Amino acid sequence: MADNDQVKPLAAAHHLRSDYEDHEAMSAQSDLRRKKLYIQCCGCLTVLLLIPVVVFIVLFTTVCHVKNPGMRMNSVSIQRQLEVVDGDQNITLLVDVQMKNPNYASFKFINATSVVYYDGVAVGEGRIPAGMAKARRTLRMNVTVDIVPAKVLMVQKLRSDNMNSETWSLSSYTRIIGKVKMLKIIKKNVVVVLNCSFTYNVSSQAIQDSCTQRVKL
Ligand SMILES: *[C@@H]1O[C@H](CO)[C@@H](O)[C@H](O)[C@H]1NC(C)=O
Ligand SMILES: *[C@@H]1O[C@H](CO)[C@@H](O)[C@H](O)[C@H]1NC(C)=O
Ligand SMILES: *[C@@H]1O[C@H](CO)[C@@H](O)[C@H](O)[C@H]1NC(C)=O
Ligand SMILES: *[C@@H]1O[C@H](CO)[C@@H](O)[C@H](O)[C@H]1NC(C)=O
Ligand SMILES: *[C@@H]1O[C@H](CO)[C@@H](O)[C@H](O)[C@H]1NC(C)=O
Repeated sequence: MADNDQVKPLAAAHHLRSDYEDHEAMSAQSDLRRKKLYIQCCGCLTVLLLIPVVVFIVLFTTVCHVKNPGMRMNSVSIQRQLEVVDGDQNITLLVDVQMKNPNYASFKFINATSVVYYDGVAVGEGRIPAGMAKARRTLRMNVTVDIVPAKVLMVQKLRSDNMNSETWSLSSYTRIIGKVKMLKIIKKNVVVVLNCSFTYNVSSQAIQDSCTQRVKL
């Protein structure tokens, strides 16, 4: 009996101890598991927090990066022909221009003038109304340009060497000032300069052109 009595508490104690050890081991294991979970959670949270940051950076560098709008002259035609070159009448050109906006925001520009030169002297002009090229769109405009033949003839008279020349070498200078505005935060001024040279054949009243462009952001 006594032996038994002694054994039982021991066994119980042993049982208790092993229970305690088991518990300790288990709690250590769960601690480890918790730590792992914690690390995983931290990793997940970091990734979740990083996603918008990365998205923002990517958006900021691609979408919000302001690119050069491109201006081009598609065609030039003579809208009104002249009976005689020395009259008061203007030579009216119909110029088809396009403004290509590669940005994810609209490009707004103010009204501008195109000045036509003959031998460095202004002999005509065209008015470009204020406008807007929508985001990633191309705006096409018809611009009328008036050339005053009397002014060309006056220049020719001053420089008698090229009097009554069969063709006129004209050049035009167009400067468009605008703004690319994005999310009300980013505003960028853009200046587009388009220089063109024209050759006007007086007898056939035909016109040929070529242009060079420069953009300043
Ligand atoms: C723009 O339009 C205004 C008002 O019509 C005018 O005063 C101004 O001279 C124009 N600017 C250009 C560059 O044509
Ligand atoms: C000819 O063009 C000029 C602008 O270059 C303009 O001031 C003038 O009124 C025009 N004349 C006619 C008859 O259209
Ligand atoms: C420009 O003029 C041409 C010929 O008159 C016409 O066919 C075209 O639709 C016009 N374009 C714009 C944008 O007004
Ligand atoms: C101008 O046009 C006339 C008539 O079409 C042509 O005979 C002449 O060769 C042209 N001149 C130039 C410089 O192209
Ligand atoms: C356009 O012409 C102006 C003056 O006529 C000149 O200062 C400028 O450098 C030219 N730009 C280009 C791109 O040819």
